[in-house]
Amino acid sequence: MSENWIRICAADEIDEEDVKRFDHDGKTYCIYNTPEGFFATDGLCTHEDQHLSDGFVFDTVIECPLHQGSFDIRTGEALTAPVCINLETWPVKVEEGTIFLSVGDKT
Ligand code: FES
Repeated sequence: MSENWIRICAADEIDEEDVKRFDHDGKTYCIYNTPEGFFATDGLCTHEDQHLSDGFVFDTVIECPLHQGSFDIRTGEALTAPVCINLETWPVKVEEGTIFLSVGDKT
């Protein structure tokens, strides 16, 4: 696994069942706080590139705000139409109350 961890924010800056957008090196990511912990995925919907950070998180699912397609936050799996292409997922860790993202290795 890459040691290239990027600081995102304090863990308490993302409410439970909420999502935060993070832009880095020309790419957009989403960081989620779920009942199963923190996760990260690509930030754009695989259907029509809508920002998922404007979507709705419930449990471990993100619903796209544009056409209501949904993904499993933990795995990136496309769950409901019209999405059919999975999201990439990325490693996240929390240390001393701070969230870090590694974009060097996909999960
Ligand atoms: S852009 Fe996300 S479901 Fe269409």
